Amino acid sequence: MGGLFGRAALRRLLGGPRAPLRPCSGEPSWPRERTLVAVKPDGVQRRLVGEVIQRFERRGFRLVGMKMLQVPESILTEHYQDLQGKPFYPALIRYMSSGPVVAMVWEGHNVVRASRAMIGNTDSCEAAPGTIRGDFSVHISRNVIHASDSVEGAQREIRLWFRSGELLDWVAGDHQSCTYPA
Ligand code: PPS
Repeated sequence: MGGLFGRAALRRLLGGPRAPLRPCSGEPSWPRERTLVAVKPDGVQRRLVGEVIQRFERRGFRLVGMKMLQVPESILTEHYQDLQGKPFYPALIRYMSSGPVVAMVWEGHNVVRASRAMIGNTDSCEAAPGTIRGDFSVHISRNVIHASDSVEGAQREIRLWFRSGELLDWVAGDHQSCTYPA
């Protein structure tokens, strides 16, 4: 008999021998990776900041920096310097200057690649349902969110948007002692 009600499954149900439990505490051994995520002016206006934070937290990533800012033109021109020749560049700078942006730094295993998958395709009509852009973006020029597209790009963008003192190096602690008073 195999499958769901096979011997191994029955043994598990009856509390038979099982692999020893590993403790959950402690930090992972993989290298820490960080990425820049920014909720763009349309995302802020549409009250999507909480939705974005919730998705990243639930995915298991750690928020290590966050601020709301009216992005100075100097940051935008450097951030989008590779796009200066594109026809949409002036409109992109206008859009990114049209209201406050919420910039965040998220940390975790493969967070750069994972966050690109979470935000979805640049063009809203190509973005898969379930991704942030696939669920909320109405047009490529109003695509709600930015996330760095490579580890090197993320390092450059984080240095551009944040001072080192604005990033917190906190570790997952003892949930009980953080949540309840002594
Ligand atoms: S991406 O997201 O970097 O892979 O996509 P890419 O196509 O290289 O786009 C780079 C940024 O330009 C924005 N973009 C546009 N803005 C306005 N209008 C049009 N047509 C347009 N096409 C691309 C796109 O959202 C990217 O910005 P960020 O801030 O990285 O999302």
